[in-house]
Amino acid sequence: MNMRTAVFPGSFDPLTNGHVDLIERALKLFDKVVVAVLNNPGKAALFTAEERLTIIRAQFRVYAGRVEARSFSGLLVDFVKKMDAGVIVRGLRAISDYDYEAQMALMNKNLCEEIETLFLTAREENSYVSSTLVKQVASLGGDVSRIVPAVVEAALKQKLQL
Ligand code: PNS
Repeated sequence: MNMRTAVFPGSFDPLTNGHVDLIERALKLFDKVVVAVLNNPGKAALFTAEERLTIIRAQFRVYAGRVEARSFSGLLVDFVKKMDAGVIVRGLRAISDYDYEAQMALMNKNLCEEIETLFLTAREENSYVSSTLVKQVASLGGDVSRIVPAVVEAALKQKLQL
């Protein structure tokens, strides 16, 4: 198990500036960050898992292999073990995130003692940013250019026929 590799899991439907900031900060702590896109056919998503991976790969191309985007299904700890990673990184925006995040971290600890969850605090300017609100605002014609990367803004325009 490699403690120098971290997994950053999520739905990423779509990637936001909040995610980008957390991934870039995780790159200062780890040699490699695997961005793990949950592929959950049971949950209605705007972008397919393949589209979300394409967006993430385009955004982090400059990091020359230090950021790897993969989709996963099933248990997160099984995916983390498969990647030979030792750490799960999650972001916390407000205290309201804490309950759910602590529950997941404790469940993952219960499932696999060796894997650690590390929380990074979201930047203040991203503390209100969520993929759910991005989708809602964009679908109603609102400007999301300050809260998502350009590649996501373009993908949203195309997907929503704006
Ligand atoms: O961005 P999200 O939607 O808050 O990410 C949630 C995610 C993907 C981290 C979480 O749903 C997950 O880990 N799902 C995989 C299933 C799993 O391992 N469940 C048990 C741990 S609580």
